[in-house]
Amino acid sequence: MKMGSRFALVFFLWMHLSATFELSETALDQTRFLAEPLIDCDNIDFLIFVHSRPENFYVRKVIRSTWGGVFISSGKKFQTAFVVGNPEKQMKRLNSEYTEEVLNKLNLEIKQNKDILHLDKVDRYELLAMKHMASYKWINESCSKPKYFIKADDDLFMDLHHFTDYFTKNFNLEKAFYCHVQSDISPQREGKWEVTKQDYLEDKYPEFCSGLAYTTTLPVIQEVLHKSSSHKWIWVDDVLVTGIFGRNTKHYHLNLRYSFDFEDLHAWAVESTFKKYPFIFTHVDTSDEFWGRTVRKAWKKLEKIRKMVS
Ligand SMILES: *[C@@H]1O[C@H](CO)[C@@H](O)[C@H](O)[C@H]1NC(C)=O
Repeated sequence: MKMGSRFALVFFLWMHLSATFELSETALDQTRFLAEPLIDCDNIDFLIFVHSRPENFYVRKVIRSTWGGVFISSGKKFQTAFVVGNPEKQMKRLNSEYTEEVLNKLNLEIKQNKDILHLDKVDRYELLAMKHMASYKWINESCSKPKYFIKADDDLFMDLHHFTDYFTKNFNLEKAFYCHVQSDISPQREGKWEVTKQDYLEDKYPEFCSGLAYTTTLPVIQEVLHKSSSHKWIWVDDVLVTGIFGRNTKHYHLNLRYSFDFEDLHAWAVESTFKKYPFIFTHVDTSDEFWGRTVRKAWKKLEKIRKMVS
């Protein structure tokens, strides 16, 4: 290879990589929606946006058949949709068949369910912040009427009825994040999850919400969008969106309603008494072989208890 063309190749690769990972408002403006969910935006109270990876077909199926399939609870209207990017090329696989297979399956799922916001960005952790901001942009432009917006990860179990009862009784702040508040957290300075001093200088992050699930309103979303053009971005999306861009927004502590131990849900689902489940949001351990079965069992039990008391 001649010097010139080698240089051109290196330059091309460099351009390609830096374009892939660029985190900024400009990159956000260039993000396109390949598919948009069909939502009755003018008539719902809560829009739930579940961030999911393209290949998580089974995870989305379980969510649709449990808490994500609820359209009305205590008179409040809900709709659940998913945010996904494009499948990532698998380095271990030599051909692109896998990526194509996932994309075909995803397109079929989109046609059948019409509940997916599909971004033309590769779905990898370096781009979580882009995914998060792109969903905010879509909400502001195309679905701004719901009273509240819930952002969730797909490894979540949500007692949606408990949420409605608790939330409508206790809150009606216009501008806040309602969430599991994380304080006094330091950036990791090495390893896969590194955030360099160049990207974030301070030793502590501002208060932020755990990305597992949080609730907010349109004014907050608009303020975050606005701030995203004047601050440096980092890839850690929950810190960036709810902490750095959301620094001046109230963070309402719902910490006692969260469990990060999947065993809490499992133990409750299999016990024979009909006590109420104490948490609203539970982190699901999707590496557990029977997680789907546990989630379905827990959901069935919740519905049964609900029927018994009403
Ligand atoms: C939100 O959408 C409105 C109306 O479409 C637009 O005027 C405004 O600039 C957007 N706000 C942000 C912060 O992007």
